[in-house]
Amino acid sequence: MSEIRRFGVIGTGVWGETHLMTYSTHRGAELACICDLNEDLLRQRAEQFGVSCWTTDYEELLADDDIDAVSVVTPDFLHREIAVAAAEAGKHVLLEKPMATTVEDCRAMIDAAAASGVKLMVDFHNRWNPAMWGIKQKVVAGELGDPQMLTVRLNDTIYVPTEMLSWAGRSTVIWFLGSHSVDLVRWLFDDEVSRVYSVSRSRVLTGMGVDTPDFFLTIVELEGGGVAHIENCWIMSTSMPTVFDFKLEMIGSEGTCFADCSSHRMLQTFTPEGPSYPDVAVRTEVQGVPAGFGVHSIRHFADCVIHDLEPAVSVADGLENTRVLVAIHESAQSGQPVEVQR
Ligand SMILES: NC(=O)c1ccc[n+]([C@@H]2O[C@H](COP(=O)([O-])OP(=O)(O)OC[C@H]3O[C@@H](n4cnc5c(N)ncnc54)[C@H](O)[C@@H]3O)[C@@H](O)[C@H]2O)c1
Repeated sequence: MSEIRRFGVIGTGVWGETHLMTYSTHRGAELACICDLNEDLLRQRAEQFGVSCWTTDYEELLADDDIDAVSVVTPDFLHREIAVAAAEAGKHVLLEKPMATTVEDCRAMIDAAAASGVKLMVDFHNRWNPAMWGIKQKVVAGELGDPQMLTVRLNDTIYVPTEMLSWAGRSTVIWFLGSHSVDLVRWLFDDEVSRVYSVSRSRVLTGMGVDTPDFFLTIVELEGGGVAHIENCWIMSTSMPTVFDFKLEMIGSEGTCFADCSSHRMLQTFTPEGPSYPDVAVRTEVQGVPAGFGVHSIRHFADCVIHDLEPAVSVADGLENTRVLVAIHESAQSGQPVEVQR
């Protein structure tokens, strides 16, 4: 049995909580220290997870030589500085998606990790989504023939950019949800994106004072000839049963797959308190233990640190994802198809 590895979490907001619940319950791992700029939140998280070490200064956390690895769960555009410092301090790093919002930032983090010999993984957790895994296995087994077309719809209600994320006006739905969509396209086709054409509109959210596009409709061409259509929006009605809508279909030369991962499809309850559609797929609890594919990917990273394994998501996956997302923004802005630069 390997010795215990100690983990830190930097950024303890909405998704940081998933990292906290995973490390604090994973065999072979210890949640050693947590960091956030928001001291009230930090105190609350420290109490919630029984952590005695907490700080508002990530440098202080990184100075602890006994910490083996950290998760960086700060807003999309604030990953580089912390991840580079963590790698330079000799910590393995799990980065929330997207890896970063510029190719330069990705390169800086990859270089720092390589120079220190630490693991660097981006949390593209849909690779642990049972439905996506099922489609991937069909593709790998050749049961779909040659993959031809893929359609991914991953949309949020307007609650996400207007209430959940304080920083939505400094990001876009492409960074936030398009990162998952593009990772699925690259992974399921096992191919690189050559060209993108995207159309976006900025009417609803800007009208509400949140300076970010409402949606992007994107056509993606792959080097091997496959084509994907990606739909990402941040303006669905809050009267939807759940915060996101997630559907994917893959059409191959011989087979077709449909997945509906919208969580309200899995469990619906109706009680005197009203209807409810709890998430039992992404982040949940089963038999008192955190579960769901959002937890599973973080467990995988923890196991890679504990047992010195290679993460299933490579640094190239993070870099290529950001390259495509940059091209999608450029295309939406110029109104022209954009070749992905390599
Ligand atoms: N995998 C998923 O499905 C998923 C879901 C939600 C968010 N995310 C990703 O996770 C990241 C965080 O998103 P979130 O929804 O948790 O946002 P959030 O705003 O809820 O949390 C971010 C936290 O980072 C803290 N922070 C910012 N700068 C910091 C610094 N220098 N040092 C320490 N703390 C700092 C903020 O105070 C905040 O509490 C983003 O990259 C986002 O795209 C992933």
